[in-house]
Amino acid sequence: MRGMPDTPRVPPGVDPSRPSPARIYDYVLGGTYNFPVDREAAERIRAQSPDLTDAAWVNRAFHQRAARWMAARGIRQFIDIGSGLPTRSNTHGVVQEAIPGARVVYVDNDPMVGAYASEFLAADGTTAVITADLREPDTVLTAPALHALIDFGEPAGLLMTAVLHFVADDADPWGLAAQYADALAPGSYLALSHITHEGLPPRLVEEGMQVYRQSSGVYPRSREQIARFFSGLELQPPYPDAEPAVTHIGLWGAEAPELADSDGSHWWFGGVARRPASA
Ligand SMILES: C[S@@+](CC[C@H](N)C(=O)[O-])C[C@H]1O[C@@H](n2cnc3c(N)ncnc32)[C@H](O)[C@@H]1O
Repeated sequence: MRGMPDTPRVPPGVDPSRPSPARIYDYVLGGTYNFPVDREAAERIRAQSPDLTDAAWVNRAFHQRAARWMAARGIRQFIDIGSGLPTRSNTHGVVQEAIPGARVVYVDNDPMVGAYASEFLAADGTTAVITADLREPDTVLTAPALHALIDFGEPAGLLMTAVLHFVADDADPWGLAAQYADALAPGSYLALSHITHEGLPPRLVEEGMQVYRQSSGVYPRSREQIARFFSGLELQPPYPDAEPAVTHIGLWGAEAPELADSDGSHWWFGGVARRPASA
């Protein structure tokens, strides 16, 4: 597919005997940066629901639509936290179509992402990868590679898609999201998606939680809990003529919302919000 062997080399710091969220997601999206243990983990979830691949692509498509939407509003710099492994249509590929030279800094705590970064970064210095844990915001927000590309005096696009459900309540994911958003200039945008348990079969939710217990754990949350990530920000309407809201993410930015809300979309809630001048 991309000239990769079936099983990639194991970079330093990567344990191929335990599944990782980045590698499981890569496998489900059809990538090859994963090991047998990741494929087995994904297939355990798929055994509970055939919607797994749809759910992953619904999320990836939301991420891309949200990034493109921000670029269309003149955002020229992006911070992609929990960026994942090189997939087709990376964030910089999407936003640079609209704004040539737009800068993107990727942040991920999986060393697999940093190890393979050279295979997907832009050659012109507009992109960088930081290997760091988002639960250490001071480390992330003071990283020289971040400040080399992001001007904190100008609005930025903050993408936190499909990542905060890997952060337990006791690490305060709401406080962390607020800390990142607060670091940005007024007029910046946050795009966020998050796995829910609401409306999903309990056995699917339980199996997913069991699978991810082998790594960071996963913490599906309610719509109300997910809406709290946007506190203090101006939530944007998910599509023309809609009220500002957190929705199933297949709806967000959809040309035909009534057609877009697939079963995989119901695994998620999310939205896009703007940092107001007074925040
Ligand atoms: C499901 S992938 C989502 C990738 C991409 N954001 C998207 O929506 O298509 C989740 C990513 O978050 C990363 N991640 C999980 N916990 C993290 C943490 N505490 N700090 C930084 N990255 C984390 C994982 O390594 C993985 O690459």
